[in-house]
Amino acid sequence: MIGDKIEIFDTTLRDGEQVPGCKLATDQKVKIAIQLEELGVDIIEAGFPISSPGDFKSVTEISKVIKNSRVCALSRAVEKDIECAGESLKFARYGRIHTGIGTSDIHMKYKLRCSEDQIIERAVAAVRCAKKYQEDVEFYAEDAGRTRDEFLAKVCEAVIKAGATVLNIPDTTGFCLPEEYGAKIKYLVENVKGIDKVVISAHCHNDLGLATANALSAVVNGARQVECTINGIGERAGNTSLEEVAMILKKRESLPFYTNIISEKLLSTSNMVIEETGMPIQANKAITGANAFSHSSGIHQDGVIKHRENYEIMDPKEIGAEKSTIILTARSGRAALAFRSKELGFELTKRSLDKIYVEFLDLADQLKEVYDEDLQKLLEKNQLLIRQALA
Ligand code: KIV
Ligand code: ZN
Repeated sequence: MIGDKIEIFDTTLRDGEQVPGCKLATDQKVKIAIQLEELGVDIIEAGFPISSPGDFKSVTEISKVIKNSRVCALSRAVEKDIECAGESLKFARYGRIHTGIGTSDIHMKYKLRCSEDQIIERAVAAVRCAKKYQEDVEFYAEDAGRTRDEFLAKVCEAVIKAGATVLNIPDTTGFCLPEEYGAKIKYLVENVKGIDKVVISAHCHNDLGLATANALSAVVNGARQVECTINGIGERAGNTSLEEVAMILKKRESLPFYTNIISEKLLSTSNMVIEETGMPIQANKAITGANAFSHSSGIHQDGVIKHRENYEIMDPKEIGAEKSTIILTARSGRAALAFRSKELGFELTKRSLDKIYVEFLDLADQLKEVYDEDLQKLLEKNQLLIRQALA
């Protein structure tokens, strides 16, 4: 492995599950947690125990079965939340409490109605309280993306002194640009006393479609943990997508980082989350979308048939997909038609291909996609011609 390890903190079961319509029962959460552990996730955020008895039970049950990954429970900077999170983790082999408070001007003024000093006091008290239950305590500075750097640094320094082991710098509203978010992490690295003793974590939301780019920018500037969800599900436009971060760090050698993710399990994990949450993903979703490895334009199909790497930067097997697919549409060329015909057992010569291609285009203009059954019928209809051309 080259470079630094990036810890993968999966919050599918907490931030992901906050999405309306995504509610998961305890047995579903346990099933997904087991899959996340097999996938190689370092930390599984299992829930927000104070939020409901169901969530408390889910964190408890996950804590009982997960043995290699760390199990994390969320709380606000409120004593009863933290106690509840601590209680829910009592069976965890490796546990972590994730506690925090808003630090941006807007949160301090309109949500918390607290002064800067009061925020720092509450943050420190929360970390000290969490330390009674778990050695590993992650602090989140909610809305850090819109927090003034100087104040954020002050908060970070105070919670490190109080015993925080991980500092989460969330871009809660998905507002930051990659350079801004990266610069914020760099500022903290350079200006917070004791920061070298803790792990900096990136937690990015996707409101402007920048969650993955922002998380990477944070890593380049010193973050060593990325918070993400399977399929990028999460509040509003979602969170950084785990599969994107894992594959970027695996494929791009110019980024000297690695994760423990077993990429061959990405597709099955994505499918499990779709099935359990009932939340489909778009066909063009990077890495795991239905079209991520399918080629439909004639030029691309011809290129991929000649040499896969002409148009593919990853082998589909790397994410657990069987193979790439050549989709037949009115945009397909002869190469794709010949390729798919061969897969169905029909060897086409140039002459038969030219003839059948004309009929194929007529058919493709009528249908959105020409499936195997449609193609089979077309080829059977032209069987005589195919045989004669071969003779
Ligand atoms: O987006 C956010 O700020 C959060 C925190 C609770 C970590 O999800
Ligand atoms: Zn979040």
